[in-house]
Amino acid sequence: MRILVTGGAGYIGSVTAALLVEQDHEVEILDDLSTGHGEAVPDGVILHEGALQDDDHLDRVFAQPFDAVVHFAAFSLVGESVRDPLKYWRNNVGGTLNLLQRVATGGARRFVFSSTAAVYGEPDAVPIGEDAQLAPVNPYGHTKLAMERALADAAEATGLSAVALRYFNAAGAWGGRGEDHDPETHLIPRLLRSLLSEGETFAVFGDDYPTPDGTCIRDYIHVRDLAEAHALALAWAEQPGFHAMNLGTGDGHSVQEIITAASRVTGLTVAPPVQPRRPGDPARLVAANDRARRLLGWSPRRSDVDSLLADAWEWHRTHPAGYSG
Ligand code: UFG
Repeated sequence: MRILVTGGAGYIGSVTAALLVEQDHEVEILDDLSTGHGEAVPDGVILHEGALQDDDHLDRVFAQPFDAVVHFAAFSLVGESVRDPLKYWRNNVGGTLNLLQRVATGGARRFVFSSTAAVYGEPDAVPIGEDAQLAPVNPYGHTKLAMERALADAAEATGLSAVALRYFNAAGAWGGRGEDHDPETHLIPRLLRSLLSEGETFAVFGDDYPTPDGTCIRDYIHVRDLAEAHALALAWAEQPGFHAMNLGTGDGHSVQEIITAASRVTGLTVAPPVQPRRPGDPARLVAANDRARRLLGWSPRRSDVDSLLADAWEWHRTHPAGYSG
């Protein structure tokens, strides 16, 4: 297939683009490099450097139609979205509408969208199924849900086949591509970077949650497993319509369990201080993943915590300053 990957210079986007190249698809990337890294773009892949809001740029990219679009390009920092919500609405929703406009007028027949567990907000029960209430608790989640709805409406009207993949906690590294955000807010990179540099601080945000060890529980999923789900979704997306699927392992791990595993994997002592809770963190987020298993034939293969941490550790150890180092 001829596939456009937006955000293909980012963390999950670049690992997915590399897998699609491995599978002999013809891949092009659209990325404005505002948070992505040119070094992450797979060899031989055309990078259209520019924004989704740039109409002339999009016209040039879509001059020759694609069979499919995989849409990652979006801002994704929850805290920043609370401080500057319009930046998120403008970029995430505005950019998606521009892209869908091109797709709806013959730009592609298949569309796979990078969504998030943040569309569920604070769930009533775990594991969380796709039919759980959609009630985001921050602007980032609101914009992702709005994009899902725009996509569902466009699919209904145009016969597009659209799949929204709702990731739980992406982690790990693959093929020389890893997590390099600035600022970095995520647990595993912050924890591992604090082991590599004295200048990087790390603390546990709250140990008084209603969980067995008092720290928050999350469902960590390897970035290569996420990439495989995108490849399967592209092949599966033939029938018109919109489908949402969770991507997680179905198993939760507490922050303390991740710290213990990091100590095991790195051979280093990890004993971080505990700070107050970070506002807005739900105690427990774990995916029900039967829909992706059943419809796509997907299953996580590298997401056991030790493999995931070992891959992340290898990447951070060899890239102590991220892509620039
Ligand atoms: N945590 C720490 N210390 C840190 C960083 C994180 O203790 O330095 C804790 C958090 O408080 C949380 C857990 O580690 O309990 C995981 O935090 P992350 O920031 O790694 O991930 P989140 O679960 O907050 O975020 C993920 C996705 C978001 C998505 C959100 C949905 O990364 O994109 O789930 O709730 F919006």
